[in-house]
Amino acid sequence: MFPMRILIAESEIRARVAELGAQLTADLRGSPRLVVVATLRGSICFAADVIRAVDLPIELDVIGIRSYKGDRPGPPERLTGPGSDLRGADVLLVEDIVDTGQTLAVLRAVLARSGAAKVRVCSLLVRAGASSAEDVDYAGFTIGDGFVVGYGLDYNQRFRNLPYIAVPDPEDLAGL
Ligand code: IMP
Ligand code: MG
Repeated sequence: MFPMRILIAESEIRARVAELGAQLTADLRGSPRLVVVATLRGSICFAADVIRAVDLPIELDVIGIRSYKGDRPGPPERLTGPGSDLRGADVLLVEDIVDTGQTLAVLRAVLARSGAAKVRVCSLLVRAGASSAEDVDYAGFTIGDGFVVGYGLDYNQRFRNLPYIAVPDPEDLAGL
């Protein structure tokens, strides 16, 4: 893969995930039933790491939603899930990035209909200054405006497997 500017290194992600895991463990300890709902496909790397940093008996579910074609946002569409009965459960929704908050609003509406007792939101990334930032209970990192890829985040389905968050050069993306 072509070189990209690293915005958040693997070691920084690892350290932050450990902090979030400790915080989530302390905050959610009393929950009778905690279901982590990971959003597909962007949050899979983050969710896989976060659940292993939470020292509580959790259940794991997924919800599939698509809001981007290439690097252009569109109206969020639900594609799949969640598969479990969430009535009465405490839900921790794990997201890759909360940008405008449109996707989060759709996810919240879906989860509200599911009968979950309480929904908390944990997002790896949040855009600085976004009004939607207040809807995120647990934020990994606050970033600026540029488009980022890696650690789950894609450009046209590519680069999800990078172990860090990087800023691709638009010239390198031409044709992908
Ligand atoms: P929102 O609906 O504007 O909050 O956008 C959230 C969704 O857009 C995320 O779940 C991502 O899938 C996608 N997204 C937003 N910004 C980026 C980015 O910089 N890189 C990759 N995906 C992004
Ligand atoms: Mg995406």
